[in-house]
Amino acid sequence: MPSLMPSQQRCSTENFWMDQIMNAPGMKPHPTISTRITSRWRSDFPALANPMNGKRLAFLDSGASAQKPYSVLNALQNAYCAHYANIHRGLYEFSQRQTADFEAAREKVAQFIGAGDARSIIFTRNSTEAINLAAQSWGRQYLQAGDEVILTVMEHHANLVPWHILKTQIGIEIKYIPLRENGELDLEVLPQMLSARTKLLAMTHVSNVLGTVNPVREVIAQVKHSHPHVKILIDGSQAVVHSQVNMREIGADFYAFTGHKLYGPTGIGVLYAPYEILDSMPPWQGGGDMIDRVRLDGVSFAPPPARFEAGTPAIAEAIALGTAIDYIGTIGYAKIGAHEQALRDELLQKLEQVEGVKLYGTQPQKAAIVSFTMEGCPAADVAMILDQSGVAVRVGHHCCQPLMQCLGVEHTIRASIGLYNDSEDIDQLIAGLIKARKLLI
Ligand SMILES: Cc1ncc(COP(=O)(O)O)c(C=O)c1O
Repeated sequence: MPSLMPSQQRCSTENFWMDQIMNAPGMKPHPTISTRITSRWRSDFPALANPMNGKRLAFLDSGASAQKPYSVLNALQNAYCAHYANIHRGLYEFSQRQTADFEAAREKVAQFIGAGDARSIIFTRNSTEAINLAAQSWGRQYLQAGDEVILTVMEHHANLVPWHILKTQIGIEIKYIPLRENGELDLEVLPQMLSARTKLLAMTHVSNVLGTVNPVREVIAQVKHSHPHVKILIDGSQAVVHSQVNMREIGADFYAFTGHKLYGPTGIGVLYAPYEILDSMPPWQGGGDMIDRVRLDGVSFAPPPARFEAGTPAIAEAIALGTAIDYIGTIGYAKIGAHEQALRDELLQKLEQVEGVKLYGTQPQKAAIVSFTMEGCPAADVAMILDQSGVAVRVGHHCCQPLMQCLGVEHTIRASIGLYNDSEDIDQLIAGLIKARKLLI
């Protein structure tokens, strides 16, 4: 079977953008930035070799969805070409081998997040489905009218809307942890927000807009100490990408993440919960593969994880998610973190020198996600000019409308950094912003 091989780099990677910046009126490179950061992993990602609008691609939108390395693309292809068959039910060799690969991926995910027990890993379509599963299964079973759910104002809609749906369905009440000026949560108010009526705290590990890293382990320890009955759900969608997480250390009751931001395929995500919690929950969708017995007068259900995986799952995608985890493992989070943080610092320093830029989220140890506005320049217009310059960033509310309200803006421009980014991407972005300012003001 032919495998996908790296194609030739099609765009120049010379210091063109650096020259552009140095020659821009009023711009001087920051004195502390002397070394150029390169990425030895860029060539692992075939899409990055393609120009965008005829320009070298500076892909700074990994927070929305990351590019895929050859190994993941090969794994997807292999899952269909080697011994493709449906899983769990076939008594023939192909089905059994495919089942073994699928279940091996579950084991890999469990090890990757320090879950201990692979039965704690439910494959879902994405984070959104993982959180909806928790809301519709655990929430509908254990919450009643008047119970309180605590969220934060920095949540992605994926961790807001499912609880609003539950509010409509059963009458729960929702409270929000507010935000401080620097983009951190005001966790000092949390003890006063907790009460005997609080049943769940659901919060993001890393903000997809501000890059703020929330101290989830400390929050969980504090809440469990004073209110042991409160369940805690963590949205890890942006966290697993940038650093190692360990379920036994964090102590969450639910942890959700999505494969496509983790250099894996779309269509696959994960809900983690300790087995005893999953075993206490009813199914939320019914169908094949999740039952024990079905009779005309009733149904009994399979134990977790099957109970929550009705129908044919995303088989190839789960297997390829395992390969994405292998890919990250061969590099290691120490290197990924150091690379991303160096680029984040370079970006922050260079942004300081662009007139009119206002940053949102200034926590010193934040993830490599940088949101900003440019005074007098509508974000959508800036994005269009960046697009013409080969720069992919995200502009909008980032599925965080309540957060935008708190920040007092409609939109921000967000650059999010992955392991394949380099100084040239940063310079290309800065040059694009300078051009946008010239054209728009
Ligand atoms: C913090 C956070 N939570 C949840 C999601 C939803 O992810 P998905 O669309 O893969 O379900 C995202 C996606 O941007 C996110 O950034």
